[in-house]
Parts: sequence; structure tokens; C-alpha cells
Amino acid sequence: MDCLIELKNLVKYFDAIKAVDDISFNVQRGEVLGFLGPNGAGKSTTMKMATGFLLPTSGTAKIMGYDVTEKPIQARRKMGYLPEGAPAYGDMTPFEFLTFVAEARGLKGNEIERNIKIVTEKTHIGSVLKQQIETLSKGFRRRVGLAQALIHDPDVLILDEPTDGLDPNQKYEVRKLIQEMAKDKAIIISTHILEEVEAVCTRAIIISQGKITADETPDSLKARSERHNAIYVTVKNDSATIARTTFMQFDTVKRVEKCSENESHVEYIIIPKKGFNLLDQVSTIVRERGWAAGELRVEHGHLDDVFRQITSKTLS
Ligand SMILES: Nc1ncnc2c1ncn2[C@@H]1O[C@H](COP(=O)(O)OP(=O)(O)O)[C@@H](O)[C@H]1O
Ligand SMILES: [Mg+2]
Repeated sequence: MDCLIELKNLVKYFDAIKAVDDISFNVQRGEVLGFLGPNGAGKSTTMKMATGFLLPTSGTAKIMGYDVTEKPIQARRKMGYLPEGAPAYGDMTPFEFLTFVAEARGLKGNEIERNIKIVTEKTHIGSVLKQQIETLSKGFRRRVGLAQALIHDPDVLILDEPTDGLDPNQKYEVRKLIQEMAKDKAIIISTHILEEVEAVCTRAIIISQGKITADETPDSLKARSERHNAIYVTVKNDSATIARTTFMQFDTVKRVEKCSENESHVEYIIIPKKGFNLLDQVSTIVRERGWAAGELRVEHGHLDDVFRQITSKTLS
């Protein structure tokens, strides 16, 4: 396995506050890891330690085998980091800033201009290259930050809320860019936007109060949702009561809820007991009894539900 990021037992105290509480995980080449958690969970602090910008209280972070505290220059050469918030050096233009970062990354001569051109196109900042960073909109500043992280085409990308402040089109572009780069890099993105995790991540880690509370694929997380494999069924008004009573009697059914109704039909969601699949049973009975007033639909579950379940459990 090609393990590019190795975090081991990271702990960070700010005075008495334990912001990060023993976080360990590895990220392989080809993985896009979604780092999820409510505000204050410790995502940014973990990322700062992973990149060597903040010294851990204890624990280690390695990027392509280089310990970020012991071999910071080698480690940073291999990684791009988009910190939270806006880039420092607001009085520079993006062009000056990217030149500065490229030189600091050890790029030389033609390579500097060539790479600035590449990242400018990738992040769509061509129109503002000569404008002072502090005068740019939040969306542009975020993308200048992203361009700086990509300037040396690193194997490892650690991006702290890369789509924060972007409009929906810009979010889409950045997600597409991350997907395009995913194959030959190891990428961590922090976010609290769950659709982002579904769209781009191969794996999701949820943290809450500085601790990892889930580490799995977005699909398997969704499968933990109560509504995973629930069935939406629309039945004629005059059969609604008997249909509902019948569904409730299935021993695989946990609950039946009314979603909507009008003068001709009622829509129910039938929630299965954990691990059961109701589709055959429900479709057969609805067809045999002639109750149907529309197609059946299977629900795959909501990441939001799972996120709330997992993060609220540890808060209570
Ligand atoms: N420099 C700091 N000094 C004191 N406390 C901090 C500092 N940075 C972060 N914290 C605290 O650490 C916890 C985790 O913060 P952070 O890593 O920014 O969370 P997230 O990025 O998940 O929102 C929060 O309680 C936050 O207030
Ligand atoms: Mg943060």
C-alpha cells in the first residue's frame, strides 16, 4: 500500500482545553478523505498538526515518510496545504503571491511561470491575477489559497474547507478539480457540507470533541441511517388506512409515517427494522390489493441523519 499521510496519536491541548484527543489515521494514494465534524470538533487543529504548522502536544505526523516536525522542508515539498480563512500577504497580488510561494517551494525559472499558469487555469483566477488579494471577494481569495496549495503539484493535499465561501457553481468546479486530482494523490478535505462528502470522498472520518467517532465509506455511513432502505409508497386515499395498518403488521417494519396527502392519495414512508429490506414484501402486497397510486421508491439514507446521530451522541 502506498501510504502518503500517517497521523499517529495526535493530541493538542490549548491550556486546559483538549482540542484533539488521540487522533490516528493513514491516507493512501488515491483516497479522498472527508474530514467531518461540527464546529470546534478539532478539524483545523488536526490539519495544522498534520502539515507541521502547529506543534502537537504529543503524537506524530508523517507526509510520505517525513516527520513534519523533524523534516519540515522535505515534508512540505510533498504537500500542499490550504489553511482555514484567507491567505496571509493580502497586500500582494495573486501573481506575486503565487510567485513567492513557488520560489519558497523550490521551483525555478520557467517552471514558476508554467506552474502559475496551470494553477491559475485550474482554479479560475486568471481575471484577478494582478489585483491585491485583500480587495478580492471571499470566493476568489479561497481559490487563490487553493492555487497556492497546488503550485508544486504535490502528492499530498490537505485542504481545510476548500469550498467555504464559494457560490454553488464555484463549489462544483472545485469539487470537480479535486476529483480529477484524486487518482494519484492522497487528499484530505475538511467540510461540514455532507453533500460534498458524497460527491468527492472515498472515505469519511467524523470527529467530535477531538475524537474519531466514525471511519468508513460515505455509502456505509449512509447505511447507518434509520431511513436506509426505507420505502416511499403512494396509495389511493380510500385504501390508506388499511394499507398503513397492514404495513405496521409486518414484523420487518419499524415505523410507518405519513409524508404527504391530497384528495386522491397518501404518501407513506415505511421504515424497516435494522438490516431488513422491505421492497419485495411491500411491492407485492400493494400490487395484489390494488392500493398503488404511484411508483415505489427506495430511500438510501441520509448522511445528515447519521452525522447528527454520531455527533450528538458524543455530546450528550
Ligand atoms: N489557538 C487556539 N487557542 C485556543 N483554543 C483554540 C485555538 N485553536 C482552536 N482552539 C479550540 O480548539 C477546538 C477545536 O478547534 P478547531 O480545530 O478550529 O475546530 P474545527 O476546525 O473542527 O471547527 C475549539 O474548541 C477551539 O475553540
Ligand atoms: Mg475549522
